Amino acid sequence: MDPAEAAKVVAAQKSLEFVRDGMVVGLGSGSTATHFIKLLGEKVKAGLKIRSISSSRASEDLARSLSIPITDFRQSPVIDVAIDGADEIGPHLALVKGGGGALLREKIVASAAKRFIVVADSSKIVPRLGKFPLPVEVIPMAAPLVEKQILALGISSKVRQAKTGGEYITDEGNLILDCSCGEIADPEALAASIRAMVGVVEHGLFLNMAEMALVADGAEVKTVYK
Ligand code: A5P
Repeated sequence: MDPAEAAKVVAAQKSLEFVRDGMVVGLGSGSTATHFIKLLGEKVKAGLKIRSISSSRASEDLARSLSIPITDFRQSPVIDVAIDGADEIGPHLALVKGGGGALLREKIVASAAKRFIVVADSSKIVPRLGKFPLPVEVIPMAAPLVEKQILALGISSKVRQAKTGGEYITDEGNLILDCSCGEIADPEALAASIRAMVGVVEHGLFLNMAEMALVADGAEVKTVYK
């Protein structure tokens, strides 16, 4: 396993300390969250009693395959703890997420969680957000209109393509615009501007949501607070 992947496992392992019997657990998406789900599956097999709500079909399928009990917001409107990865972790735990295309459900899960904990390897820590293209989920019909409005902010964007060819379609049937922002000087202002565009469903800026980040460098895990 390469060092970054091994660090993701270490961070995921650490996050298990925040999961207790009886909790509703939010399951993130992406490679670090996948490590967490697999480790959680082992705990469930050993007797841990939790229920889960997933932030993507892929994570839910994985949870089901590991016999992790699944619930929904009708039965369980509050998540006790949500564990998820991030593409960038900036100052004050401002995050860019959505590299895996699951930003909408990830934000729903994080917003319903009493505690939202980020797990990552140290390469995700950045002094300023924006090097990683910011994903914006849009209604397909509105994509050309939103692209123009984003360009008017001085930001070029591209409709994400699927690895298998054609446009990438999210779990909710929408498109993703990957926006080349460059350094984002004011994440709050950018989030508000993008949010105001008709046809935007959600963007990948997660601001004031994470309580802490468990960031692994080799075998060592640092806890980063806001
Ligand atoms: C998924 O949509 C993303 O938000 C992931 O959380 C993010 O891409 C982090 O992924 P890795 O854990 O694979 O780096």
